[in-house]
Amino acid sequence: MNKNRNFKPCDLVIYGALGDLSTRKLLISLYRLEKSDLLEPDTRIIGIDRHDKEDSEFVELAYKSLQDFLKNTIDETVWQRFSSRLSYLKIDLTQMDQYHQLHDVIDSKSRVMVNYFSVAPFLFKDICRGLDQCGVLNDESRMVMEKPIGHDLKSSIEINDAVAGVFNDDQIFRIDHYLGKETVLNLLALRFANSIFTTNWDHNTIDHIQITVAEEVGIEGRFEYFDKTGQLRDMLQNHLLQILTFVAMEPPVNLEAQSIHNEKIKVLAALRPITKCTVEDVTVRGQYTKGFLKADEVPGYLEEEGANTESTTESFVAIRVDIDNWRWAGVPFYLRTGKRMNYKRTEIVVYFKHLPHNIFADSFRQLPPNKLIIHLQPNEGVEVEMLNKVPGIDGDIKLQKTKLDLSFSETFKEKRIFGGYEKLILEVLRGNPTLFLSREEIEQAWTWIDSIQDAWGSSSDVPKPYPAGTWGPIASDSLLARDGRSWEG
Ligand code: BG6
Repeated sequence: MNKNRNFKPCDLVIYGALGDLSTRKLLISLYRLEKSDLLEPDTRIIGIDRHDKEDSEFVELAYKSLQDFLKNTIDETVWQRFSSRLSYLKIDLTQMDQYHQLHDVIDSKSRVMVNYFSVAPFLFKDICRGLDQCGVLNDESRMVMEKPIGHDLKSSIEINDAVAGVFNDDQIFRIDHYLGKETVLNLLALRFANSIFTTNWDHNTIDHIQITVAEEVGIEGRFEYFDKTGQLRDMLQNHLLQILTFVAMEPPVNLEAQSIHNEKIKVLAALRPITKCTVEDVTVRGQYTKGFLKADEVPGYLEEEGANTESTTESFVAIRVDIDNWRWAGVPFYLRTGKRMNYKRTEIVVYFKHLPHNIFADSFRQLPPNKLIIHLQPNEGVEVEMLNKVPGIDGDIKLQKTKLDLSFSETFKEKRIFGGYEKLILEVLRGNPTLFLSREEIEQAWTWIDSIQDAWGSSSDVPKPYPAGTWGPIASDSLLARDGRSWEG
């Protein structure tokens, strides 16, 4: 435990404790925080769900999740300490008279109550009402909610209003787990702590920027959720737009939450809306068909378990984004994200402008532009691609593309790279709002996403098929080819 800081212990209540997010991400991240000695000794974790379970069964389930994800790396001493924090309560979240049980468990005097809403958004109103009526909340209590917050601007406003009726804005932590990823945070350092980038980060020097979030996984048994959501809302509305705002924002005054939010909102407000007239030129939707990942054959989207075989939901999106402001005028951002792509890869590639004249034409007919490649996951790191002279004393000057390569795992060998959820859960437990989303940011993002969804809705086009294990439909390549560019290989 960090002895220099004195944080209050918490009662972390997870609503939907038996669900996917809780068992696959939250409990694992909490165990890892325990292992790193970052949980306050008196913090407790209370799982809530509608099924009958004894505490011991919940503990068993947590252990099984750890085994599934961490294999045989579980440290039994750490596990003993961690499991002693766990308990379980059966509450049907739609039944107001069941919330009183929280009274017997929550200790509002010496602990902060942290309410993690790990359930579908339609239950948020009920939980807020239940908590309000049973009187367990106080000014210190916090609530955490997950993206996607809503389905569009209208539903997002409804959810935010319902939550605001019970929690003040400074008690609400809106999570996007990408904001907890080490490499996303490193964007702040890269841009605002290095003068070579602060002074070369606009339309004068940059040609265009690509952001790729490619996933190898399919929809992982979540057809019902995913089919109503689609890749645009599931990934682009939040994760990719968050990365985009970090890349494009003006320098914040400081690292306070409000300063960062202000700058991000300005970027989101400057996104050029996509209309019925432009949608076909600047967006591509795709849906995966049967294909191969590594050597394994995997089913297409319409053959997934529980699939609606008529579905026209997109599992891939590529978009040309224009930011209508002074800094980025004329610099397109190309965003793409898809499921069942060739391999998992999240990266930002900044293409600098071509030089106006080439004095090395004998060796290189056309000088390739410098590139800054930021690998967010896996293999976190930063590379700069540049040209160097090949050593030699005879003949012409020969150039070769080389890389300045900063691999995080090589450079920071002794440091563990924490997962997004670990970082963010810790920040919630410590009450630090910097890495969370503001209501305005989310609503601004929805305004832009709704413009795309509306334009798609009015078009007769359907997503274009792409075989699993590829980089999406050919139309995604054409999107860049039309502008004389291509995706980073
Ligand atoms: C989640 C989406 O927010 O992010 C999933 O709902 C997606 O569909 C996941 O697979 C990707 O997260 P990561 O951290 O694996 O890139």
